[in-house]
Amino acid sequence: MIVAPVLPDGWRLVALDSVGSTNDEAARLADAGATEGTVVWAREQTGGRGRRGRHWVSPVGNLYSSTILRPDCAAPRAAELGFVAALAVSDIVPAGRDVRVKWPNDVMVDGGKVAGILLESSIGQSGFVDHVVAGIGVNVGFAPQAAEMRYPGAALGGSVEAALERLAQSLAWRLAEWRHHGFETVRAAWLAKAGPLGIDVDVRLGEELVQGRFAGMDHEGALLLETPAGPRKIVSGELLGRAA
Ligand code: BTN
Repeated sequence: MIVAPVLPDGWRLVALDSVGSTNDEAARLADAGATEGTVVWAREQTGGRGRRGRHWVSPVGNLYSSTILRPDCAAPRAAELGFVAALAVSDIVPAGRDVRVKWPNDVMVDGGKVAGILLESSIGQSGFVDHVVAGIGVNVGFAPQAAEMRYPGAALGGSVEAALERLAQSLAWRLAEWRHHGFETVRAAWLAKAGPLGIDVDVRLGEELVQGRFAGMDHEGALLLETPAGPRKIVSGELLGRAA
């Protein structure tokens, strides 16, 4: 029996069988005035989008959801919500599995990518955020594999409905934590779940590949690296494990 997911008080579920991208549908609803906590969930996406213009493979069996947030903050702070969302995903990983967050917004389980997060913000004329769409894809039933993936995939197991319900509860809780205690609390929680400091990593910055040691995350969410040329702060890029 399929049980409809129950969302936190005041949240609203828009459940669809199929859609191009839940992020696009959520943005459309947000522009029309939908409130924070509106969750667009689709069984499949025909045009699922990942970061950096990538395709997000989205057949039936995994979780595809986009949640409208209205954080009422200045534009540069919107990116903090990616770390909030990554922590929310990490919270729903069953006990006994090794869960790590990977800068900026990935969640890894037992060494494989289990979820991806695509944040899309709309900024008002005042420079404040009008809304953020937090698009979250979680591998529940299966782990897609693609030749270009540097990591294997991983899947949570269980039902998509249960994963959505737990994710929404956790997102609401992590969001409240961010609002009441600020980014420092989120940053500390994120660092506690990140890979150990000092491990060798590669970071792709467009065409450039920077090699260094993971040295944490700063107070604005930038990645800190120790490179042979000295410390480096990276605001936008893609963190990769060292291939060899
Ligand atoms: C990534 O590149 O890792 C981010 C992937 C984000 C995928 C999710 S699935 C739900 C939402 N709708 C989309 O089109 N993308 C996000």
